[in-house]
Amino acid sequence: MSQVIEYSEKVMDHFTNPRNVGEIENPSGVGTVGNAKCGDIMRIYLDIDENNIINDCKFKTFGCGAAVATSSMATEMIKGKSVEEALKLTNKAVQEALGGLPPVKIHCSLLAEEAVHAALWDFAQKKGISIEGLRPPVNDIDETEAFYETPGE
Ligand code: FES
Repeated sequence: MSQVIEYSEKVMDHFTNPRNVGEIENPSGVGTVGNAKCGDIMRIYLDIDENNIINDCKFKTFGCGAAVATSSMATEMIKGKSVEEALKLTNKAVQEALGGLPPVKIHCSLLAEEAVHAALWDFAQKKGISIEGLRPPVNDIDETEAFYETPGE
């Protein structure tokens, strides 16, 4: 029997009316991550100014509704923020902003967090700078999922 998944109103809103869909030409940073288990892929583009502020942010997601909603929310949450602030964006914060996600969809929010980190990493590489706390991106978040699970959740 298939499982019925219930989404919050906010998830449905960001899924049916996603913000910041698209690409940025000559982005300051671009990050692509996927999850081999479900096959979903997310790409995030950043336009970062000389003060390290994210002026614009776009995404392209080939994946489930929760992946689209988390990409949309994550881009909204980092727009106008500094690189350092964007690095602090957690999948938990994205989930909370969306009014929660069903347990089987938690990994979709990890994709959003990782895609942002991957784009920041690309930006740092291009600029030849290092951003404290930023680690190299992974292509398949499925490999790192255990790492992200917060004890007690
Ligand atoms: Fe894998 Fe949503 S089902 S990202």
